[in-house]
Amino acid sequence: MNIILLGPPGAGKGTQAQRLVERHGMRQLSTGDMLRAAVKAGTPVGLQAKAVMERGELVSDEIVSALIGEELDSLGPDAGAIFDGYPRTAAQAESLDAILADRGRKLDHVIELGVDEDALVDRITGRFTCASCGKGYHDRFEQPREPGVCDRCGGTEFKRRPDDNEETVRTRMAEYRAKTAPILPIYDARGIVARVNGMAAMDDVTAAIEKIVAA
Ligand code: AP5
Repeated sequence: MNIILLGPPGAGKGTQAQRLVERHGMRQLSTGDMLRAAVKAGTPVGLQAKAVMERGELVSDEIVSALIGEELDSLGPDAGAIFDGYPRTAAQAESLDAILADRGRKLDHVIELGVDEDALVDRITGRFTCASCGKGYHDRFEQPREPGVCDRCGGTEFKRRPDDNEETVRTRMAEYRAKTAPILPIYDARGIVARVNGMAAMDDVTAAIEKIVAA
């Protein structure tokens, strides 16, 4: 199964992708995570992407589509893929069609997480992750069960993203409205869009996604 999770920054794409991975053994393909790894490793792609990401703007279509193609090639033919944060422009949507067709895959669902933008700044500025395994948490909505200790791996170090400040989040939202939201009609025309209320409690969002995936 191949699924796109679509929604503005903070809509819960990463949170729900991790849950799909845990439940169904699918692979999460997050272009944001791939780019952050490239920045950390100081690769040529990372050097190009760093300043763009810190401003909250979009990295070039060619770079992210190449990353997605490489990542898909590392997947077994039967492994399901969750596209998290990709595609984000009409050009990326077109590239994804070609990338999937080349590998004999097809898109099953585009799941749009509908959210109230005012709540997103709060969600994003409170977010942190385990430095060892990447599990996501939130200052108010999802604390580790034992304070300071990761539920999943027992790690005790946590980190926050440099682009998770209010000014950058506003730019990321504007980019979403201008360049990403307009790609929805492409998938609507194919009858594969399902809309989920991303403002509901995390478990309710997961339950709604499970229904779509099981259908
Ligand atoms: P990326 O890493 O993709 O960031 P994003 O799209 O801005 O999305 P986020 O990761 O911020 O949010 P999310 O929807 O995953 O929310 P989460 O589940 O964490 O991209 C970063 C940058 O990389 C971009 O700005 C761009 O520069 C570049 N980039 C990446 N992909 C690109 C592409 N394809 N093309 C060009 N450039 C690209 O949830 C947020 C918080 O809310 C968490 O703390 C969570 O615990 C909490 N939460 C989640 N769901 C709920 C809920 N239902 N109720 C309460 N709290 C909730």
